Amino acid sequence: MIFESHAHYDDKKFDSDRDGLLASLAAHGIGQVINVGSDFEACQKTLALTEQYGFLYGALGIHPSDVSDLTEDALQWISQKTQLPKIVAIGEIGLDYYWEKDSEAQRTQRFWFCRQMELARETGLPVIIHSREAAEDTLKLMQGIHAEEIPGVIHCFSYSLEMAKAWLNMGYYIGIGGVVTFHNAKKLKEVATQIPLERILLETDCPYLSPEPNRGKRNSSLNLPYVAQEIARLRQVSVEEVIEATAENARRLFPKAAPCENHSAQ
Ligand code: NI
Repeated sequence: MIFESHAHYDDKKFDSDRDGLLASLAAHGIGQVINVGSDFEACQKTLALTEQYGFLYGALGIHPSDVSDLTEDALQWISQKTQLPKIVAIGEIGLDYYWEKDSEAQRTQRFWFCRQMELARETGLPVIIHSREAAEDTLKLMQGIHAEEIPGVIHCFSYSLEMAKAWLNMGYYIGIGGVVTFHNAKKLKEVATQIPLERILLETDCPYLSPEPNRGKRNSSLNLPYVAQEIARLRQVSVEEVIEATAENARRLFPKAAPCENHSAQ
């Protein structure tokens, strides 16, 4: 079964068919899903979804594009909720200089990224990191706080193989999604080919970033087989091997999302 490590089913693009879609995932080979919070409201909706669906787990955190009105009270709330059995990670957190060019606002992003990394350390949970056009600052900040002591994934990886290796050396996983199927995604295809399979996680970031042949449409976990197929093609291994290895990786990184051997993911 596929382990979907990064989805946003709280997004309003799923309002019309969320329940039917989520109920159909298991029949399409999707075993587990991590729904990832991006702002405070998304975190609350994520919690509700974890209560509704046995196979769905939650990550709580504030995305760099949404930190402008983040408060210590909100972090306190997140910190409390991390004790719930189905909250498996802190995320998504990080730096996004693509959408934020203002240097003062970028400094605010770094402050809250650091603060949420420390929250992960305190709670013992792994992190889901978003980093866009901020490779060097992300790496520098993480090295500065000894982030190699905090397990995590660099989600929707968009940098070079060299940068991937720097994070692999810190023990991090690399999240790969629909972009790997794009014809012009040379860098990511190289990363997906060269890094150890034991460090790759499958993800959609849905509703965004649909893979070929559904590029441009709303994404969902149902498209993950296309991502697995492309990784398998690049590495010249079977699709089953990619699906099994990446699911095992996700259960290793997110131990709270690992079901007991004798129970189904439901
Ligand atoms: Ni995301």
